[in-house]
Amino acid sequence: MIFSGGEVVRGMKAIVLNEYGGPDDLTLTDLPEPKVGPDAILVRVKAAGVNPVDWKVGAGYLDPVLDAHFPLVPGWDVAGVVERTGPDAKEFAPGDEVIGYVRKDWAQNGTYAELVAAPVRTLARKPAALSWQQAAGLPLAGLTAYQSLKRLGVGEGDTVLIHAAAGGVGSLAVQIAAAWGARVIGTASERNHDFLRELGAEPVVYGEGLADRVRELAPGGVDAAFDFVGGESIDVSQQVLKDSTRVLSIVDAEVMAKGGHYLFVRPDPADLAALADLADAGKLTVGVDRAVPLAETAEAWRLSQSGRTRGKVVIDVS
Ligand SMILES: NC(=O)c1ccc[n+]([C@@H]2O[C@H](COP(=O)([O-])OP(=O)(O)OC[C@H]3O[C@@H](n4cnc5c(N)ncnc54)[C@H](OP(=O)(O)O)[C@@H]3O)[C@@H](O)[C@H]2O)c1
Repeated sequence: MIFSGGEVVRGMKAIVLNEYGGPDDLTLTDLPEPKVGPDAILVRVKAAGVNPVDWKVGAGYLDPVLDAHFPLVPGWDVAGVVERTGPDAKEFAPGDEVIGYVRKDWAQNGTYAELVAAPVRTLARKPAALSWQQAAGLPLAGLTAYQSLKRLGVGEGDTVLIHAAAGGVGSLAVQIAAAWGARVIGTASERNHDFLRELGAEPVVYGEGLADRVRELAPGGVDAAFDFVGGESIDVSQQVLKDSTRVLSIVDAEVMAKGGHYLFVRPDPADLAALADLADAGKLTVGVDRAVPLAETAEAWRLSQSGRTRGKVVIDVS
């Protein structure tokens, strides 16, 4: 409970930034329960996924395109249980288990909290096959992977190259592409090669000579390539693609000047439900590298900032 001007309002624990900053500026605090709009759901958070964009928003890198209001609760990914619904949010009922990529039009009331208000357009039902931690790692990275592969029309018989295949987005893209009948070549450091094989990819080491290593595996070239890390990925991709326009980046919008595609992931309940179905069909799982309690969110950000995590980092809130 929080006392506000003599009135008692229900409260919650949350992680906040009081101004733009990094891991050391994250504070565990008490906040009032979020307001729930007519087409929104109040979700009791079981776990919140950590994505690089969380600390990029926190640092102010997105300030030119996204308003931020402080205190700011970071986080866009959630898995949890419906606590109550807005008056026109009949898609869900209290007790339903849901997942969401809860990106709103400004940054303020995120998912690193015990409760989050989520518009219905950001949610789908939680796949039963995934644990709470795994489910929390699925929405943003899974949607990015799914929408990227769809954008380039990946399907049966294609050979695709995925840069940063061991990361959050990459590890999900490998599995979805394989489920759609594609052959997948994925880049990662050696220590992640067994992980990539388990997901269904043929691993190659990145760095000097990458184009040659990909040509050895696919002498006729690849049909589509995905840049999930930046750096040399777009140029290397265009050296090994049959058609140099079938390259997509989620990191570098300059790809468009080179004839390729740029994508910024959108909340989409149908795409999210399709991901949940793939998980329940046993074709998609989420590798959780580390789960930390809410009070240790700073550690989760440091891990994510290292750029070396395998699969997902999540915050266990329950
Ligand atoms: N535009 C969008 O909508 C969108 C959506 C999601 C993410 N993103 C961005 O996309 C990037 C990836 O996101 P994420 O969540 O997948 O990140 P992540 O989980 O932090 O990625 C970590 C992975 O990157 C790999 N890696 C690091 N350097 C590499 C290199 N040079 N070549 C190949 N792999 C390398 C690491 O593998 P090793 O340890 O084996 O090196 C590690 O497994 C981030 O910049 C993120 O902000 C954009």
